[in-house]
Amino acid sequence: MSELKSITDSTLLTNQKNSVPVLGLGVWKSKPKECYAAVKSALESGYRHIDTAAIYGNESEVGEAIRDSGIPRQEIFVVTKLWNADQGYDSALIAIDKSLQKLALDYVDMYLIHFPVTGKRKDSWRALGKIKESGKAKSIGVSNFMQNHLEELLADTDIIPAMNQVEFHPFLNDVKLYDYCREKGILLEAYSPLAHGKKLEDPKVTKLANKYGKSNAQILIRWGLQKGLVLIPKSVSAGRISENGNVFDFHISSEDMNEMETWNENFRTCWDPTETI
Ligand SMILES: NC(=O)c1ccc[n+]([C@@H]2O[C@H](COP(=O)([O-])OP(=O)(O)OC[C@H]3O[C@@H](n4cnc5c(N)ncnc54)[C@H](OP(=O)(O)O)[C@@H]3O)[C@@H](O)[C@H]2O)c1
Repeated sequence: MSELKSITDSTLLTNQKNSVPVLGLGVWKSKPKECYAAVKSALESGYRHIDTAAIYGNESEVGEAIRDSGIPRQEIFVVTKLWNADQGYDSALIAIDKSLQKLALDYVDMYLIHFPVTGKRKDSWRALGKIKESGKAKSIGVSNFMQNHLEELLADTDIIPAMNQVEFHPFLNDVKLYDYCREKGILLEAYSPLAHGKKLEDPKVTKLANKYGKSNAQILIRWGLQKGLVLIPKSVSAGRISENGNVFDFHISSEDMNEMETWNENFRTCWDPTETI
């Protein structure tokens, strides 16, 4: 488990031996101009991890903001994802080149299969192995993979995904998947850690926010950090980006962490991979 020191210095080591900053900025639904400003502002606030995807349509602005930040490239952890329409061996090899071209980068730090597309995901994973070998991605991983998808993949490969990015927050707290990923050494990364904004006003969250003198968003983020997750909250507001990163100066007690463990209601805000065979 990482020692939670500051947004810039708190990392977790993947099974592929790369360090991932535990808190990053998500940019899904950030329009290109907003995205550029959000990434610039996040980097100024100390974030060193940006999560984009080919399908988000803002890889160019992510790359531009990174370059304009003046921060050395190797200090920033950049993630992008292979979109469903590009899954398959040959098409994945083409897709990474297109992403790198848009980002105007030589490599990404993590390349993820965006979704476990039936009949395609095994070939996509073989391609990601090749992409890692070529140095175009330092680490490779998956997203939206449930235990059955991971079991299938692990039975077919020597490369264990470094990370599995799934929707995860106290209201969608899949303990079995959490335990399985830990057992296999796969970092669990929480997307929509604020439940896409839909649970911020929950009175249970407000009660803890008042108790700790923090915002509701900060309580949800800190919960994930203390569970050893990597989290990528999204915002296009400079104030909220800074607020979401300001979660390294307090600790949720084990009593309250246990209480939060009872909040699960399988509340899913994004797509549902559980029915995908
Ligand atoms: N792999 C996948 O399939 C997948 C799926 C979904 C998401 N993701 C990734 O995960 C990232 C985060 O998920 P998400 O964007 O769905 O949801 P989220 O981070 O849980 O919530 C974002 C929403 O909360 C608002 N917000 C952010 N900080 C706030 C604060 N401090 N106070 C009040 N409201 C706040 C944002 O509005 P403002 O922007 O207006 O502040 C936005 O409406 C995405 O951007 C993407 O990178 C991946």
